[in-house]
Amino acid sequence: MSLRARISTPEEHGSRGEDGHLVASYRAKLLEEIDLAEMSALAAAERRARLERVLGHIISREGPVLSTVERSQLIRRVVDEALGLGILEPLLEDASITEIMVNGPDAIFVERGGRVEQLPLRFVSADQLMQTIERIVSTVNRRVDESNPMVDARLPSGERVNVIIPPLSLTGPILTIRRFPRSFTLQELIGFGSLDEHMVYLLAGLVQAKFNIIVSGATGTGKTTLLNALSGLIPSHERIITIEDSAELQLQQTHVVRLESRPPNVEGKGQVTIRDLVRNSLRMRPDRIVVGEVRGGESLDMLQAMSTGHDGSLATVHANSAEDALTRLQTLASMSDVEVPFVALHDQINSAVDVIVQLTRFADGARRITEIALLDSHGGEPYRLATAARFEAQPMTPDGRVYGTFRHFPLPRRTADRLYMAGQPVPQAFGVARSADQLATREAR
Ligand SMILES: Nc1ncnc2c1ncn2[C@@H]1O[C@H](COP(=O)(O)OP(=O)(O)OP(=O)(O)O)[C@@H](O)[C@H]1O
Ligand SMILES: [Mg+2]
Repeated sequence: MSLRARISTPEEHGSRGEDGHLVASYRAKLLEEIDLAEMSALAAAERRARLERVLGHIISREGPVLSTVERSQLIRRVVDEALGLGILEPLLEDASITEIMVNGPDAIFVERGGRVEQLPLRFVSADQLMQTIERIVSTVNRRVDESNPMVDARLPSGERVNVIIPPLSLTGPILTIRRFPRSFTLQELIGFGSLDEHMVYLLAGLVQAKFNIIVSGATGTGKTTLLNALSGLIPSHERIITIEDSAELQLQQTHVVRLESRPPNVEGKGQVTIRDLVRNSLRMRPDRIVVGEVRGGESLDMLQAMSTGHDGSLATVHANSAEDALTRLQTLASMSDVEVPFVALHDQINSAVDVIVQLTRFADGARRITEIALLDSHGGEPYRLATAARFEAQPMTPDGRVYGTFRHFPLPRRTADRLYMAGQPVPQAFGVARSADQLATREAR
């Protein structure tokens, strides 16, 4: 195989193969002669031009016999690796990839269409991977080293990057890149089989009638995506305040205030938490508060806000079922510095939370709403959840797909009345329960 073919074969790009060594050795020679840090003041194009010129000299000085094309490809690749993100570049450009997971230099996985696959790519060494990681985190003025072995950051282009290195990681430097999630409309989510049109109709009524809605699910089940789609249903005359750890929501309304928390700086100062932002947002005359993810003491402030007139709030929480979501909110609220008796928190949740939308990621990568539950209990009563919709899965097919159907159940009288008073019809697929035994309810403590 000619050098040219080998250089341009993507599968071998960055491999340990012969040309991987060639690229690595020229890269090393180049970096010996040039201090990249000194060049950081230069514009990107100028930096590249200089590296190419120096590398051209190095190759002429000692290089193999190359055709013009081979030579320019070698130069491009070496400079790409010295300057850019090397083998990650084409992955970042590939729009079908939603997540890039680098588990040390030898194992690169990507997620595409919900499925995770390993790619036949590797970094030449852990050092090379580390240099790539340093280049990524330095673009957001962060650094990663032994005293600072974990970094979580959002790139200017929107990707979320997480880095953890040895000794915390036992398999070399670990890099996880989450592409900035594309936003989807509820109609598009119907197309993915994540919910059906009756559920959209119900959710639209609930959002417009200002029910407080909690989107619940495990990591990567599509909470933020659904929160974004649901927020899209908020009428455009309302003032919306969004609060997130890393700003992912992309609301289309004009009257939106976006707040983002801030981690402590290198000296451990200047932290602004979700909780600080929730408290501050209450003084900003919000019509709606949308909290990206509730994961701490802000649960208490949010529940208090929800039960004292800030109706129509939306939030996500990390939980595996609707009842889990309630207990999790309660536990998180009890973590707050204000001491509230556990029983009082229970009351608070009963009066604050109206709807829980549970998401699940299935083995075939599909993300679905597995339940829409209405909280139908009051005061100190045990939580009573009335299922309005549920996904009933069938056993997995031999090709690993999961099919199933959405079932709909009558709504509690209280929910129907509230929809009615807000001028929202009760969708026919659900109807209203005439007596308690028509409800699909369960209790939880
Ligand atoms: N209903 C869906 N169908 C298909 N893909 C989806 C769906 N919802 C989300 N996704 C994709 O799944 C990935 C994770 O989505 P998202 O960020 O919304 O999840 P999350 O639950 O908020 O994750 P995290 O727990 O990390 O915050 C994204 O790539 C997103 O585009
Ligand atoms: Mg999320």
